[in-house]
Amino acid sequence: MVLEISAASVGAVFIAVLLLWVLSCISDQNHKHVQGDHKAKKTAVQSGPLHYLYQFLPCSSSPSLPGPPGLFLIGNMMELMHDHLPIHLTSLAQRYGNIYKLKCGNTTMVVLNSTDFIREALVKKWSDFAGRPLSYTGDIVSRGGLSISLGDYTEEWKAHRRLVHGALKRCCQKSLHDVIERQALHLRKVLMGYKGSAVDLSEDFTVAASNVITTLAFGKEYDKCSPELQQLHSCLNEIVALWGSSWISALDSFPLLRNLPNPVFSRLLKEVARRDKIITQHLNKYQSQDRENEDTITGSLLQGLGKLHSTEHEVLLTDTHVHMATVDLLIGGSETTAAWLSWTVAFLLHRPEVQTRVYEELCTVLEGRYPKYSDKHRLPVLCSLINEVLRLRPVAPLAVPHRAIRDSSIAGYFIPKNTVVIPNLFGAHHDPEVWTDPYSFKPERFLEGGGGSTRALVPFGGGARLCLGESIAKMEVFLFTAYLLRDFQFLPPERDAPLPDLRGVASIVLKVKSYTVRARPRPVTHP
Ligand code: HEM
Repeated sequence: MVLEISAASVGAVFIAVLLLWVLSCISDQNHKHVQGDHKAKKTAVQSGPLHYLYQFLPCSSSPSLPGPPGLFLIGNMMELMHDHLPIHLTSLAQRYGNIYKLKCGNTTMVVLNSTDFIREALVKKWSDFAGRPLSYTGDIVSRGGLSISLGDYTEEWKAHRRLVHGALKRCCQKSLHDVIERQALHLRKVLMGYKGSAVDLSEDFTVAASNVITTLAFGKEYDKCSPELQQLHSCLNEIVALWGSSWISALDSFPLLRNLPNPVFSRLLKEVARRDKIITQHLNKYQSQDRENEDTITGSLLQGLGKLHSTEHEVLLTDTHVHMATVDLLIGGSETTAAWLSWTVAFLLHRPEVQTRVYEELCTVLEGRYPKYSDKHRLPVLCSLINEVLRLRPVAPLAVPHRAIRDSSIAGYFIPKNTVVIPNLFGAHHDPEVWTDPYSFKPERFLEGGGGSTRALVPFGGGARLCLGESIAKMEVFLFTAYLLRDFQFLPPERDAPLPDLRGVASIVLKVKSYTVRARPRPVTHP
């Protein structure tokens, strides 16, 4: 009996010591994690017999990322089903902090809700987080990852982005200002035609913004009622809306669902086929007209393909890359800027005195002429309005998800390879640590002494994945807004009519709910 007890005690002590040793090894390795020494941890743990045990212990990464508790099998899927995801993710930040994790099926996501954390991941450690999630549905929408926005960070993607970036730069240097001015003047004519009646301007804004891109891309502009334009818009909008829906994202996290009938997914496939038909027609027409000159983006891209073939032997870019770049520019270029303009008018209806201040500044500084982009630094009130709308309603509120392409860290937390990183730009722009009264529309915060800093704004993301159209978008929002506010006063449809709802509808693009407005022409006081 004594012998049995002592054998049992020795066994228990042995197991306890073994466990303690295991735990101390792990805690030692985790300490190294936090200091960024991931390699040491990986080799020690993964090569040893502790590898499996390590995965199941609760302190497998220390400090462990906070986050809401998940449900059996589906994890935090329900958190992603909210109708206004940016607002919901921002409210979770109040409970779990500016960095937290969500588990969804086999995917771990880390949500970043402050400018500092977003900059750390996207700018400072850009090469760790430049990937895009490997996604079944994303592959379908992007023809196997061949678009710039959804393609993963590979040599092929880098050559593709370089090619498009070069083409954009060349065309924009030559003609961007003129193209935007022309569309702004056309928009003015359209608004004059409404003669101050109450109308929904969102479609006019979309046509103006997308005409900038189609002029740059193909040298072609459209009328609002052009069936070709309507077809293109309805198809691209549908793809963006469907791809942003949870019916589709569930297919990425739960592969088993792919075997079940899914009418939303069938619609997505149909719209992608329709999109490809339209773009192919456009490109064929363009090529048949023998307009392969470098004045348009398409011409420049097609010429660039030939050059790349001869200089970069390892990477072969094809017509499909030109096709998908066109899709990227059309999607990126129309809904975003148009949504931004609709937001601006909506906010101005809530605070008409801001509109008056911008108008007075335009009259004083420009003395009757139309603005140039180079006037930017002489128009601080207009710029403060632009910055405040970009802050309150970043039109791509959750950017596009990134993926860690190697083990890394953010804010001292270990982030393993393949973690999906969601930069919550909306959350960062409402961070109470950075912005006083973050939910109020106060352009004056960006004026001298107002306390707001444009450095804390990240509406275009950053690093390797910085919005490819950033310079186009900045010039567009500046010139369109200046032209509109110089010539029109925006008023509610009737004296006591309810003002536009400012909560918005969030998908990939954050849009304001449709509303009507009167654009009353300003008296002609200019020379
Ligand atoms: C107000 C207007 C716009 C805003 C706020 C905006 C914002 C953004 C954001 C936040 C991203 C994601 C960055 C990331 O992944 O970290 C993005 C990506 C992108 N945007 Fe924009 N954008 C605007 C206009 C445009 C325009 C006019 C174009 C094209 C002419 C464009 C083309 C793109 C493309 C191609 C990407 C993908 C970049 C990549 O993955 O490397 N965007 N944009």
